[in-house]
Amino acid sequence: MSIADKFAAMEYGPAPEDAKEALTWLDQHSRRFGHFINGAWREPFAREYVDTTDPSTGERLASVAQGSSADIDAAVQAARAAFPKWQSITPHARARYMYALARQVQKHSRRLAVLETMDNGKPIRESRDIDIPLVARHFYYHAGWAQLLPQEFPDYTACGVVGQIIPWNFPLLMLAWKIAPALATGNTVVLKPAEFTPLTALAFAEICHEIGLPTGVVNIVTGDGSTGEALVKHPDVDKVAFTGSTEVGRAIRSATAQSHKRLSLELGGKSPFIVFEDADLDSAVEGLVDGIWLNQGQVCCAGSRLLMQESIAEPLIAKIRERMITLRVGPPLDKGIDIGAIVAPVQLERIQRLVNQGVAEGATCWQPQTEMPSRGLYFPPTLLSNVHPSSMVAQQEIFGPVLAAMTFRTPSEAVELANNTAYGLAACVWSESINIALHVSAQIKAGVVWVNCTNLFDASCGFGGYRESGYGREGGREGLLEYLEPAWFKSAPSLPAAKPSPGENADSDRQTANPAPVSAEIDRTVKLYIGGKQARPDSGYSMEVRGRNGQILGEVPLGNRKDIRNAVEAAHKAAGWAKTTAHNRAQILYYMAENLSQRRDEVAHRLSAAVGEAQASAEVNSGIERIFSYAAWADKFDGAVHNPPFRNIAIAMNEPIGAVGIICPHEVPLLGFLSLVLPVVVAGNTAVVVPSETYPLITGDLYQLFDTSDLPGGVVNIVTGYSSQLLKVLAEHDDVDAIWCFTDQTSAFAAKSFSTGNLKQVFTNEGRAIDWFDVKQGEGRWFLQHATQVKNIWVPYGE
Ligand code: NAI
Repeated sequence: MSIADKFAAMEYGPAPEDAKEALTWLDQHSRRFGHFINGAWREPFAREYVDTTDPSTGERLASVAQGSSADIDAAVQAARAAFPKWQSITPHARARYMYALARQVQKHSRRLAVLETMDNGKPIRESRDIDIPLVARHFYYHAGWAQLLPQEFPDYTACGVVGQIIPWNFPLLMLAWKIAPALATGNTVVLKPAEFTPLTALAFAEICHEIGLPTGVVNIVTGDGSTGEALVKHPDVDKVAFTGSTEVGRAIRSATAQSHKRLSLELGGKSPFIVFEDADLDSAVEGLVDGIWLNQGQVCCAGSRLLMQESIAEPLIAKIRERMITLRVGPPLDKGIDIGAIVAPVQLERIQRLVNQGVAEGATCWQPQTEMPSRGLYFPPTLLSNVHPSSMVAQQEIFGPVLAAMTFRTPSEAVELANNTAYGLAACVWSESINIALHVSAQIKAGVVWVNCTNLFDASCGFGGYRESGYGREGGREGLLEYLEPAWFKSAPSLPAAKPSPGENADSDRQTANPAPVSAEIDRTVKLYIGGKQARPDSGYSMEVRGRNGQILGEVPLGNRKDIRNAVEAAHKAAGWAKTTAHNRAQILYYMAENLSQRRDEVAHRLSAAVGEAQASAEVNSGIERIFSYAAWADKFDGAVHNPPFRNIAIAMNEPIGAVGIICPHEVPLLGFLSLVLPVVVAGNTAVVVPSETYPLITGDLYQLFDTSDLPGGVVNIVTGYSSQLLKVLAEHDDVDAIWCFTDQTSAFAAKSFSTGNLKQVFTNEGRAIDWFDVKQGEGRWFLQHATQVKNIWVPYGE
C-alpha cells in the first residue's frame, strides 16, 4: 500500500474539544441568567424563563430570561442615562474600553468558542478559527475608530440609544458587528440576542462588567420576537439595527416608519456562486465547501445558487459529489467535523420541507451516504441539480446545507441569472480570467463579490446588501456612518406641516378656486418632462401656480400614477448613465452651470414672483455654485482599497442605487431641486423628481437647462402635481430603488411606510428645516453617501 493510499484510507478518530470550562461557567451562574441591565444581572419583571438547548444533543444548557416590554423599558432607560457621559468621554478613553473588550474576548476565546458551538451547533473549528477571532478583530478595529473619530468625522455626532437585534447563525460575531461600531461612535446599546443562541451574548455581558465598562453602556435583554418587537417600538430608541429574515426586516421597517428612528437592515440572500469554464475547478470546489456548507449553510451570504458554465457542468458536479462524500457530519465539538447540527427543530423541518418542495418541482436531489449521528438535529449535505431558475429552491433562502445548481452559457447569461433574485447580498465569481471576473463582478447587484474566494469577512470592509437584502453596511468607514448623524441635522428645527393635499378626485380644485389676477408678463404653462421630452399629463388636468401675492403665474400638469409609471420606465431605460465616466458627468454639469449663468437674470426674474427677488437671485447664484460643486464631486467621491489581514485586497466601489424618486422641498424651488437631484445623478443614478409644489413652474427652466446641456434623456424626469399623492405612487413602485423626501414630517413618515414593499432605501429630512444656502447643510458627502451603495469586491492579491 502506498503512502497516498494509506492517507486516503485513514479513519478519523474522535477529537472532542473539552467543554469543561464552558460548563463550569454555566454552573457558576447556576445555569440561569437574568438580563444584563445597567451593569448588573436583573431578574425579568415577569419572572419568566426559557431553556436554551444544545442542538447536537437536545440537552438543556441553561435557562434565560424571556424579556417583556418592562424589561426593555428598564434597559432603554439605563442606556439613555449612560449616553451623555459615554458620548462625552475622551476618544482615547473610549478607545481604551474598546481595546479592553477586544483583549478580554481574546483571553476568553476558547470558552466563548465552546459556548458558541454548544448553543448553536456549529463546528468548533469554525467558532474557534473564524467567529471568535473575527469578534476580537472587530473590537480592535473599532477601538481604532473610537480614537480617530473626532479627526475623521468632525461634524458628526452619535445617534443616541441604539436597539440591536441579532440572529442565531453567528451569535457573538453579529453582536460584535453591532456593538463595536455603536460604541466607537459614542452610542449606548440595548441588544437582544436570538432566542436559540443567547449564551455568548450573556458571556459578553460579563466581559463588559469585567473590564469596567461604564454601567448602562451595553445592556443585553434576552427573549424572543416579542421582546425584539418591544425594543423596536420603544419610543426612546433613536436607531434600530437588525440582522435576520427579510420578513421580520419588513415588519421592522413598518414598525419604525412613523418615527425618526434610523434603521439599518441586514437581511436574507440567495447568493450566486458562479463558475466559469476557465476556473480552477478544484479551488472552486473547495470554495464551494465554504460557500454553502460553512455553518451548515445557515449563512445569509451562503453561495446557495451554483451557476456553472455549461461546458464544465458535468466534471464540476462530479468533483462536487466526490468532495461531498468526504464531508463529515457529526458532534460539533469534535475538531474533525465539517458539518455540525442545525440550530433548532423548526429550522430542520423548514430545510426538509423546502428540499421536498424542490424535488416536487422537478429538481434532482443527491446526498452522499454520510454516516449521520443517532441523535441531535442534523441534515446531510445536499445537492439539487436540474433546478429551474424560477423554481422555489432557486429563489427562496433555504438556510441549510443545500446547494441548488443551474447552468449558463455566456457571461451575460450568468449575470442575468445571478441578478434574477429579489436579494442582493453577495456573490462568488470563479474564473482565471481577470477580465471576465471583474467584468462580471461589476454587473452583479450585490454588496459583496468574492473573486476566486468565498465567505471572507473583515472589520475594515463594509458588509451589507442591495435590494431586498437590506440597507446599511457593517464594518468599514461606511459602517460607522450608520451610527452617526451630522451634528447640525440632529438639532435642526422642524418645518411646519404642509397644507394637506386635496383628495384623488380634486384634480380641478385649484383651477376653479378664487380667480385672481393673472400676471400677464410671466403667465405660462409647462409640461411634464419624461425621457428627455416634454409630455402631456395622462389626466389631462393641470393645476394653477400662484405667486406670493396670490396672482396666477401659470399652470403645470397634474401628474398621476400613469405619469409616474412612464417616468420610472424612462429612468430605467436611461440606466446606461451609470456606465458613463465620472469625467463625462462632470462635463455635463459644468455645461449646465454655464447655461444657467447665461440665463441667470430671466430665471431669477420668473422665480421672484414666487419667492421674492432676494431669494430668487440667491437661489440662482447658489444654484450655479451647487452645480459646480457636484461637477467637482463627480470624479472625487470615489471608493477605497482595503487591506484586510488576508492575501486579498477588497475594492470598495461606490455604486449607484438605480432609479431614485425625489420629492423636492417646497420652500426653495430651484436650489432645493438642484441640491437633491445633482448628487443623485452625479453618482450615476437616474431620477424621477416631483418639484416644489409651491413653484413647480421651475420645471420649464430646468428642462430647458437639461436639454441645452446634453443631459441624456431619461436621466432626470420631472412630474409635477400634488407631492403627497405622487410620493405614495413613487414609494410603492417596485421599480423605484430609493426614495428621497424632503418636505414635512408627515411626508417623511409616509415615505418610510409606503416603501416597505421592496424595502427601498429611504432618505428624508425627517421633516426638519435644512438651510439649503449653507454649504455645510445643503451639499456634499452626506447626500452622496445616500446616493450610493458600497460594493466590496475581494480579489486575491500578492504571493
Ligand atoms: P428572524 O428574522 O425571525 O429572527 C432574527 C431575530 O429577530 C431574532 O433575534 C428574533 O427574536 C428577532 N425577531 C423576530 N421577530 C421580530 C419582530 N417582529 N420584531 C423584532 N425582532 C424580531 O429569523 P428566524 O425565525 O430565526 O429564522 C427564519 C428564517 O430567517 C431562516 O430560515 C432564514 O431563512 C432567515 N434568517 C436569515 C438570517 C440572516 O442573517 N440573513 C438570520 C436568521 C434567519
